[in-house]
Amino acid sequence: MSDTVLSVHDLSAGYAGAEVIRNISITVGTGEVVALFGPNGAGKTTTLRVISGIIRPTRGTVSFAGADLAKQSPTLRARAGIAHVPEGRGIFYGLTVAEHFRLGYRGEHIDPAVVYEYFPALEPLQDRRAGLLSGGEQQMLAVGRALGRRPKLLLMDELSLGLAPLLVERLLPVVRTYAQESGCAVLLVEQHVQLATEIADRCYVLSHGDIVLHETGERLLRDPSLLVASYVGQHAPDSGKAIAGSGA
Ligand SMILES: Nc1ncnc2c1ncn2[C@@H]1O[C@H](COP(=O)(O)OP(=O)(O)OP(=O)(O)O)[C@@H](O)[C@H]1O
Ligand SMILES: [Mg+2]
Repeated sequence: MSDTVLSVHDLSAGYAGAEVIRNISITVGTGEVVALFGPNGAGKTTTLRVISGIIRPTRGTVSFAGADLAKQSPTLRARAGIAHVPEGRGIFYGLTVAEHFRLGYRGEHIDPAVVYEYFPALEPLQDRRAGLLSGGEQQMLAVGRALGRRPKLLLMDELSLGLAPLLVERLLPVVRTYAQESGCAVLLVEQHVQLATEIADRCYVLSHGDIVLHETGERLLRDPSLLVASYVGQHAPDSGKAIAGSGA
């Protein structure tokens, strides 16, 4: 397996004293795309928030490139190379496309050349306000802005929210190519399970705060019933055992 970039170990977290994720372990290696699936309210967004430092865990560790992040603020994590594309895109409707790249995230430089390399459709739209872009273009902007920071770890929350499947089919392979070419580790939360499985090296399913399935994308494509069973609450007893060094 590739070098581990992200290692989430035995992590629990929640809100106002109520735990919503419990003892979960997830790893993502260099250049690897890992998908995190699960029904609404399973704790997927919460998991990404703990990794980027927005909320603190009640137990367990998050390590990035071998270093424990416990004492690092979200800003320091971002500077160290963790980019988080949140649910709802996180773009500014009143700013143009180009202005988004001049507005460094937490003081960081964003390289527009990288953005336009991976999303050439954005280049002719440089002077258009984000609020006037289509949903697909807005999503490209949100992801492009993260790629332009040349992250080492990219966390993406429901990239496809509100997008037609055809657009998701175009966006996800760009993320795959980026990971491959840059070595960036990608942790992707996605409701379009089939499309995400096609580009993912490994997949985890979270249900009510627990990891109930961990498999390679390849295996899940061969045997989609595993995924279905995990969603309806039938745990696969052998799940993940064949994945060496997975940490789950
Ligand atoms: N800020 C918050 N305060 C209190 N509870 C919250 C907060 N954010 C999320 N929750 C609760 O935590 C649980 C997990 O939420 P989370 O957003 O992590 O789920 P999710 O898997 O991302 O769901 P979805 O697929 O709907 O985005 C839910 O029960 C949710 O209501
Ligand atoms: Mg969510």
